[in-house]
Amino acid sequence: MSRSDTRPDAPQGHHAHGAAPAHDGTPIAVPTSAEMLAMMGQRRSLPLRSLVAPGPSLEDLHLILSLAARVPDHGRLVPWRFIVLKGAARAAAGARLDALYARQNPDLAADKAHMWRDYLLRAPVTVVVVSRPDPASKIPEFNQVLSAGAAAMNLILAATALGYGAQWLLKWPGRDADAAALLGVGVGEKVAGFIHLGSPAERPEDRPRPTLDEVVTFLEG
Ligand SMILES: Cc1cc2nc3c(=O)[nH]c(=O)nc-3n(C[C@H](O)[C@H](O)[C@H](O)COP(=O)(O)O)c2cc1C
Repeated sequence: MSRSDTRPDAPQGHHAHGAAPAHDGTPIAVPTSAEMLAMMGQRRSLPLRSLVAPGPSLEDLHLILSLAARVPDHGRLVPWRFIVLKGAARAAAGARLDALYARQNPDLAADKAHMWRDYLLRAPVTVVVVSRPDPASKIPEFNQVLSAGAAAMNLILAATALGYGAQWLLKWPGRDADAAALLGVGVGEKVAGFIHLGSPAERPEDRPRPTLDEVVTFLEG
């Protein structure tokens, strides 16, 4: 396994910028995980229709959410939080969304009357990742929003490591402030994503990935 963390210039330990490092410059042994690399190399989103019961147990959910909360967070502001939708709360929230959607779309076709209830009922568990940047902080808002994205991705990786399937979507209920408010999203908060979780009912084909040539610039030498 390549060990880029043993580069002599790799940061080691945690120290304030400019302060003398607490180490002597020799790389130390750190845990590695071939399993994690293999899992990340195979992971892909499960379409919502392929997520079936059972969803994560409460114990698994606690683990998934704890790991989601272990992300880089400039200024330790915790600029995100999670709303978990499971059980009967999904249909109740979906019905509230349907009522608002009908008010916003008076000409809505009859077959779409329950579309958001049906949407939320598809996955056994949905975690709404809420970005809540502190506007009064000197930490740039962009940094805070990115931390919410990191939390969402950590959540997906943790769920995947436990054998669940996940999909990150951001549809009308997350994009419309009035709809999001019906789920408990407050003023100044924004939905970073709905992470739908369940057991995978199929193994989807991978999708094309960008080649490194398309996305990487090495500055070296
Ligand atoms: C913030 C965000 C929002 C997304 N919203 C949607 C969406 O509303 N509908 C959709 O089909 N895919 C959406 N996606 C894409 C899927 O989550 C996922 O990236 C795609 O299905 C394949 O990704 P994979 O590389 O994990 O397999 C979104 C992705 C992100 C990061």
